[in-house]
Amino acid sequence: MKGILLAGGHGTRLHPLTHAVSKQLLPVYNKPMVYYPLSVLMLAGIRDILVITAPDQTELFRALLGDGEKLGISIEYAEQPEPNGIAEAFLIGAKHIGDDRVALVLGDNIFHGPNFPTLLRRHARHIDGCVLFGYGVKDPERYGVGEVDASGKLVDIAEKPAHPRSNLAITGLYLYDNDVVDIAGGLRPSARGELEITDVNRVYLERGKAQLVDLGRGFAWLDTGTHDSLLQAGQYVQVLEQRQGVRIACLEEIAFRMGFIDADACYRLGVEFGSSDYGEYLRGIATRET
Ligand code: G1P
Repeated sequence: MKGILLAGGHGTRLHPLTHAVSKQLLPVYNKPMVYYPLSVLMLAGIRDILVITAPDQTELFRALLGDGEKLGISIEYAEQPEPNGIAEAFLIGAKHIGDDRVALVLGDNIFHGPNFPTLLRRHARHIDGCVLFGYGVKDPERYGVGEVDASGKLVDIAEKPAHPRSNLAITGLYLYDNDVVDIAGGLRPSARGELEITDVNRVYLERGKAQLVDLGRGFAWLDTGTHDSLLQAGQYVQVLEQRQGVRIACLEEIAFRMGFIDADACYRLGVEFGSSDYGEYLRGIATRET
């Protein structure tokens, strides 16, 4: 399965923070935001990843993440010249996807919860159509919204409906079979001029091939779209990390635990991070667990 991380857009709602730098490079507590969605792809077991950025930002992402080799994965880069919608990722990434299945994650989405890696891997293994992840929120009208019947089956999807028929937001993580490339190719821009991911998902729904997995209570799907929610996301990470002494979305640790790199490589990365807490944490993991 291939991965695409979409980190385009101008992040205008966060100006002036995003005037010179992509939103997805801003800090969420102690790591750049993009670490969090990248960790999701890695936890799904995906090692072949395309990062799509705004045109003037590619070199910054490359400086941060490189070609992925240190993490035992492959990262390539492509540009989205204009923010033409999420579904354009499948057109930009068509060559990268080839005849494989693909997971798309939005570069500003943060997911955290117990058993999430197991859930991800279970769904990534068997895809016939698409798998969407729903999350109950207080303000569903800000998102794509999924309506389910009494048995939990997805029956309708709407993009930012004025009167949502459920509180289940459709999160920015999507798993697709290879049909997604053709489906995206047949889309027309919406009223807001974008190729909508919700239109892709609706095609799958009409074919009876869209599944919605409810992430459930107790899970964290965090917003980073406003100054307040960005700060709150950072505080969430801070509280959990300080309380438990673990790191959320520590890519090097994940690479080690997923078996993408060995303990020596993990230790060496810890050394590269020098005297920072982050470096010490990695050295500790590599030493303790060998
Ligand atoms: C996009 C999608 C929406 C989804 C959301 C998740 O919204 O269009 O369906 O719920 O991402 O973050 P946008 O960020 O474009 O407003």
